[in-house]
Amino acid sequence: MIFITGGAGYIGSHACVELINAGHEVTVFDNFSNSQPEALVRIERITGKKPNFVNGDIRDGSVLAEALKNSGASAVIHFAGLKAVGESVEKPLSYYDNNVLGTLRLLEAMTKCGVKTLVFSSSATVYGDPQALPLTEDHQLSATNPYGQTKLVIENMLRDLYRSDPTWRISILRYFNPVGAHASGLIGEDPQGTPNNLLPFVAQVAVGRREFLNVWGNDYDTPDGTGVRDYIHVVDLAIGHLKALERLRDHQECLAINLGTGIGYSVIDMIKAFEKASSKVIPFKVAERRPGDIASCYADPSFAMSTLGWRAERSLEDMCKDGWRWQSSNPTGYSHS
Ligand code: NAD
Ligand code: UFG
Repeated sequence: MIFITGGAGYIGSHACVELINAGHEVTVFDNFSNSQPEALVRIERITGKKPNFVNGDIRDGSVLAEALKNSGASAVIHFAGLKAVGESVEKPLSYYDNNVLGTLRLLEAMTKCGVKTLVFSSSATVYGDPQALPLTEDHQLSATNPYGQTKLVIENMLRDLYRSDPTWRISILRYFNPVGAHASGLIGEDPQGTPNNLLPFVAQVAVGRREFLNVWGNDYDTPDGTGVRDYIHVVDLAIGHLKALERLRDHQECLAINLGTGIGYSVIDMIKAFEKASSKVIPFKVAERRPGDIASCYADPSFAMSTLGWRAERSLEDMCKDGWRWQSSNPTGYSHS
């Protein structure tokens, strides 16, 4: 049994599907602050199995410990948290509260229940402004906003915990830019309000919910002047979690591992690829750079290969086709569908 905080969310729901398909039982613990119960119904439609579910907040230590104990889980995958960079600048305390305090409560509950295997969702944001590309795990760590700070604090907390008790088994997965959706089109990313991230915005333009895309700057030092990122199919990312759990079965360690493809695509590359996948035109306007954005960011994914035997298999075309299938069959996401 695997206990999944934030399992109703974008990445968590895809991880649930891969775990169930691989024969694991899962218990989802989520407060639906950024997700919908419908996601759990869809997981059942895809897998034929209903995930166990507890509605709760990870900051509520007693509810969490009770749910963890009752689940009988041997490991935790921890997705729950807030993730919007801009919002974290406006509301830093909410981010420290949800992400840092929530994780602290989770680690206390795990200690209490004797569950010492954890896979944690970190982010390439912990590399700050890249000093060298591709990014390897030993690149210096820094943060340029409160969201990134919370990921750094949590990473440090996990390393300290492991040093104090080396019987823990901890995998810190640093995701690059997750995009796309399950090939069924039944689950996908369902941002509330205006999407901050590129692909959900592009998808909403393609489906007619928005008129045009703002391209945040075309004067970066990149081949076409627009920002370059390492986009990774969310199903590849989900499979990375399975591989991390497999490794932790026979390793007591605390390792940080990049999950990316190693390939950088520009905003213009992404627009063109999505136009092809959707057979729609994506109107765009070039606007000022978005504050805090960096020119390029992509992974060296070789450590994931040598430690987990994992590499991303799905192409840019798959990311866009699957993202489009989800968006076009659920134009308003999980609500009203
Ligand atoms: P998401 O918002 O779709 O999923 C997070 C889930 O956690 C949601 O279902 C939400 O309701 C739940 N949640 C939030 N706070 C909670 C709390 N206090 N108690 C219980 N449940 C709570 O986000 P996602 O894209 O699936 O991201 C999952 C994790 O991966 C996050 O930790 C995020 O920071 C990290 N990450 C995401 C990206 C990305 O671009 N999507 C990139 C790097 C890292
Ligand atoms: N972009 C646009 N227009 C938009 C949205 C984005 O031009 O409307 C551009 C950005 O300027 C950037 C690229 O598209 O060049 C990607 O932007 P995203 O917002 O999709 O992704 P980021 O790389 O900025 O950040 C994301 C997550 C962070 C995470 C980081 C690394 O939002 O939380 O990936 O994992 F830390």
